[in-house]
Amino acid sequence: MDPIQVGLLGIGTVGSGTFQVLTRNQEEIRRRAGCGIEITMVADLDVKRAREIVGDGVKVVNDAREVIANPEIAIVVELIGGYGIARELVLEAIAAGKHVVTANKALLAKHGTEIFEAAREKGVMVAFEAAVAGGIPIIKALREGLTANRIEWIAGIINGTTNFILSEMRDKGLDFAAALKDAQTLGYAEADPTFDIEGVDAAHKITLMSAIAFGIPVQFDKAHIEGITQLQSADIRCAEQLGYRIKLLGITRRRAAGIELRVHPALVPAKRLIANVEGAMNAVMVQADAVGTTLYYGKGAGSEPTASAVIADLVDIARLHTADPGHRVPHLAFQPDKLHATPVLPIEETLTAFYLRLRVADQKGVLAEITRILAEGDVSIDAVLQHESQEGESQTDLIILTHETQEDSMRKALAKMQQLPTVLAPIVSLRKEELA
Ligand code: HSE
Repeated sequence: MDPIQVGLLGIGTVGSGTFQVLTRNQEEIRRRAGCGIEITMVADLDVKRAREIVGDGVKVVNDAREVIANPEIAIVVELIGGYGIARELVLEAIAAGKHVVTANKALLAKHGTEIFEAAREKGVMVAFEAAVAGGIPIIKALREGLTANRIEWIAGIINGTTNFILSEMRDKGLDFAAALKDAQTLGYAEADPTFDIEGVDAAHKITLMSAIAFGIPVQFDKAHIEGITQLQSADIRCAEQLGYRIKLLGITRRRAAGIELRVHPALVPAKRLIANVEGAMNAVMVQADAVGTTLYYGKGAGSEPTASAVIADLVDIARLHTADPGHRVPHLAFQPDKLHATPVLPIEETLTAFYLRLRVADQKGVLAEITRILAEGDVSIDAVLQHESQEGESQTDLIILTHETQEDSMRKALAKMQQLPTVLAPIVSLRKEELA
């Protein structure tokens, strides 16, 4: 069988990794795919650099539309990123009848519904394993490996930059700013790390996993997003003393009233495997009714790990491109006409346990007043810890762990507690996930 021809749009870190791995493992990949998979055309604004990577056997152009217009190209790999030109090119490639492979989580989280619908109408595949957790085959696992199951929840460490920063804060006692600087110096964080540290990148990824897990449309605009910029090293230390680690989690959970979809820092019991995922590594935990808990761990970014996911998609397409579109695995795991309009719950309606740290005056009646507000607000206390006051100080930190509580109740109680004259600083409130 003739090799299937692939055109790359953008040959940066992931593109060059894809070229190298495809070249290095071509024989192994051909044996699996049933035909050769060859990158025969590349578009990149830096033509000279692209040429240095791919050599003379590959056509290099600076206009992505030349790749899309080439009738020999069956698969377009979009590695440009962002929602702008990438969206136009992906839609144009689909309209031209090309299958698309993309690592672009931002694009699919925001415009997935439009893109998958266009692909369905045209009978082409859009594959995106590389968009979520880099080299970990989590899309494949959710969409195919776990297809027998009713998935209950997913919790993931799906941003390596923030996990690296949190590890540095814990290991070295650094504050957030110093840990971020370390991450930038070592190349783990970009010069503009906003999307990572504000939780947006993780929200793109959990939005995609949520859609696949529950058979709902992709709804990034409904995700609740908090990053790690406000996290204080004091809370990382307190969490540790209580047997917890703080991780930035992407969480999606099925509830009776709808789907929770959120990204925020959370305390996780230190004894859970996922709490021990350190540095820039990623991990995704899935709870499903038949299989129970499964955990997927690996590199969530980087040239060859992400290329591994891109090439897995290329092999899938090479195997299935001649199949009747109705016999292919649906983009979002469920048949497109069977997606449910189950609502994504507003954050106020979500249920989690909480960790609270209150700087309080160390005088009689303070604890009683605080516990009264929590009880009246329907918040049940799980544990209380008060550090001894330092000599000569008349204030102390009060740590409270709550049972699972509706966010709205917690917010109202927090507002009341903050008003007490004996509460001396803004209350720190973090969610706590047992992941049991
Ligand atoms: N910037 C991401 C991370 C990798 O730090 O994990 C790409 O999504």
